[in-house]
Amino acid sequence: MEGLTEMTNWAVDLIDVRKTYGRTVEALRGVNIQVGRGEIFGLLGPNGAGKSTLVKIMMTVVRPTHALGTLLGRPLGHRGKLERTGYLPENHRFPHYLTGAQVLDYYGALGKVPRTRRRAKAKELLDRVWLTQWADTKVDKYSKGMLQRLGIAQALMNDPELIVLDEPTDGLDPVGRRDVRELLIELKNMGATVFLNSHMLSELEMVCDRVAILVQGLVARQGRLAQLTERAIEYRITAAKDLADAHSKLAVLGASVDGRTVRLAGDELGKVNEAIDILRERGIPIESVEPQRFSLEDILVEAMGDGAVAPAPIARPAKG
Ligand SMILES: Nc1ncnc2c1ncn2[C@@H]1O[C@H](COP(=O)(O)OP(=O)(O)OP(=O)(O)O)[C@@H](O)[C@H]1O
Ligand SMILES: [Mg+2]
Repeated sequence: MEGLTEMTNWAVDLIDVRKTYGRTVEALRGVNIQVGRGEIFGLLGPNGAGKSTLVKIMMTVVRPTHALGTLLGRPLGHRGKLERTGYLPENHRFPHYLTGAQVLDYYGALGKVPRTRRRAKAKELLDRVWLTQWADTKVDKYSKGMLQRLGIAQALMNDPELIVLDEPTDGLDPVGRRDVRELLIELKNMGATVFLNSHMLSELEMVCDRVAILVQGLVARQGRLAQLTERAIEYRITAAKDLADAHSKLAVLGASVDGRTVRLAGDELGKVNEAIDILRERGIPIESVEPQRFSLEDILVEAMGDGAVAPAPIARPAKG
C-alpha cells in the first residue's frame, strides 16, 4: 500500500526552503536539494551557511519560514516517516547520569523501538561503534570522540531508512573519522540513505556520492563529486629554471607564470603541448607536467568567491 502512495522516489526532496530567524537573520534563502535513495549525500558549507538550520527543518526541530518537499516520499513533518529517520543533532548532550547502554535504550524508547528489541539493538550498536567495554560507564566519563560515536549509535536505534547526521566527525581524531566513514559506507551498503552535514570537506570527498555546497543560505553547487571536480582542472608545468624569457609567449597562450611554474587552466592538451614547445625552443629543461584536479575545498572557496550566488532554479534535475 505504502508504495502506491509514495509521491516521489527521492529520499529527500526539499523545495524552496527558507528560514529567517527573527526579522533579519536570513539563514536559508530558497534551498532546493534532492537526495536519491541509497545515496550518501553531503551538505557542505562554511560556518553559519545554514546547514544545521536545514537539517533541523527536515527533522521539524525548527519551523521554516517557507518549505515544500518530501522526506521518504511524504510531506515534510510526516510522523511515520520521521520515525523511519535517525538523527544526530549538532552539539548533542546526553543526560550525564546515564550509561552508554542506558542512553541507547532511552533513545530507542523515544523512537518507539520495542523493549526486547532495544536491548539487542543497543548491544549490537555499542559493538559497532567500538564502545562495548564502556557500555556500563556513565557518559560523563566519555571522551568527546566516544560521545560522538554514541551519538551516531543513538541515531541508528530505530533501524532508520534515512540517517541525518549533523557534523558526524566533529571531535573525532583521524582514526575515529576513518571509522565513521567506514560505518557510513556500511549503512549505505545495507540500503540506507545518509544525509550529512559538514564543514570538513576532505572527509567527505571520500564517501559522498553527491554533495551540495551551501553558501550564505543558498545552494551554490550541487551534483556528483566527480562532476563538480572534473571541470575544475589545470595543468602545471614546472621548469628547471626561471621562465622570464618565455613569459610573454606563454602569456599569449593564456598561461600564468610564477617563477618556474606555468599554470594552464582547463584540460586542453593541445595548449599544454604548445607551452612545452615554447620552453623547448628556448632550451629550458622541464622537470614535471602534472594535471591538478581541484579538491572539494577548492570548489567551495570558488563558490564562496562568487559572492552573490543566485538561488538554484526550482526546475527538477534528472535523477542520478
Ligand atoms: N536560533 C537562532 N536564532 C537566531 N539566529 C540563528 C539561530 N540559529 C542559527 N542562527 C543563525 O543562522 C545562520 C545559520 O546558522 P546554522 O547553525 O544553520 O549554520 P551552520 O551552517 O550549521 O554553521 P556551523 O558550520 O557553524 O554549524 C547563522 O547566521 C546563525 O547565526
Ligand atoms: Mg551547524
